[in-house]
Amino acid sequence: MSTIKVVVTGAAGQIAYSLIPRLVDGKTFGDKTVDLCLVEIPQVVDKLKGLVMELEDSYFPNMGEVSYTSNFEEASVNGDWFLLVGSIPRGIVYNGKKIEERSDLLSINGGIFVDQGKAIGKNGNDNAKVLVVGNPANTNALIGKNAANNNSQTWMAMTMLDSNRAKSILSKKTNKNISEITNMIIWGNHSPTMYPDSENAFISGQRGSDLINDMEWIESDFLPSVQQRGKAVINARGASSATSAAKAAIDTVIACETPTDHGDCFSAAIASDGAYDVPEGLICGYPLMTLEDGSIEIKRDLSLSEFALSKFQISIDELVSERDAVKHLMQ
Ligand code: NAD
Ligand code: LMR
Repeated sequence: MSTIKVVVTGAAGQIAYSLIPRLVDGKTFGDKTVDLCLVEIPQVVDKLKGLVMELEDSYFPNMGEVSYTSNFEEASVNGDWFLLVGSIPRGIVYNGKKIEERSDLLSINGGIFVDQGKAIGKNGNDNAKVLVVGNPANTNALIGKNAANNNSQTWMAMTMLDSNRAKSILSKKTNKNISEITNMIIWGNHSPTMYPDSENAFISGQRGSDLINDMEWIESDFLPSVQQRGKAVINARGASSATSAAKAAIDTVIACETPTDHGDCFSAAIASDGAYDVPEGLICGYPLMTLEDGSIEIKRDLSLSEFALSKFQISIDELVSERDAVKHLMQ
């Protein structure tokens, strides 16, 4: 049996509590043995002892070695997967200020990803995959990838939760099972500017735009519902999405570990190489495919309507302004 090393930051947080057991349950990485390295800030790291006890008590035959630390540099050595969850969420009070918008997070969380990126680039395995969950996820990934400076590694930011939310809404609207919805693409930023693409989605084999045929509903109901769902959950539960975010992170890992079904794609943000006229380097939500050799490619043959392009552009512009705001972290 082969072994894979998975490093998780923010390991004592809400998302991690749902996420970590699923990494070792034998489904996410198949029959591989999974070594876990859990990372937290020094003030919290000792709490991880309790989580490790629970993991041991859960009986996971595929679980390998489990360690925890507040030293990311050490944790990163020979990592195959990095799930970077550790960061501050919206909805909490930080230094006396209520964190309302993702932009508030840019200055607080961005700095975390400079040192983590450097360590991953230097110590992580070649072909390591990195999924940034902590917000603002796209720009944090941009900072981390720049600091890593290692092109054999793949940096992504999570938009799978948005894709899953969009599928759930389309499933209710069309009375089709969620499993019948494919090609559910989130273009752009994981933020309220994202563009969830109902036109290129397929629902029971039919193009979404043909089946729904209701632009008024798409524009004034579907788009804002997906774009604002994170906020709606924060308002309802007083904390940001956790179990659904963990499920989406697992879905992303599985999508990257398994060749994508012919004709389908999955959603994550990845560095632009100019595809779909997105400025090179931005970490942008794209339709992705995992090929037989394990590499991840952008699906390039999709067309976007005038309406879609105008919405996508708003999100691209936001990514550019976020990039400009963190230039000092990208030396
Ligand atoms: P949480 O506050 O419960 O947990 C975050 C944990 O990260 C804390 O335990 C904290 O101590 C730790 N942490 C902070 N800085 C760290 C560092 N430098 N190294 C290691 N650990 C560190 O928050 P949560 O609900 O688990 O959310 C985590 C992040 O995920 C937030 O930024 C949230 O906005 C984001 N999020 C993203 C998505 C998405 O779809 N991309 C969805 C939901 C939440
Ligand atoms: C979400 O989409 O649920 C998260 O990104 C949390 C947030 O701040 O919206």
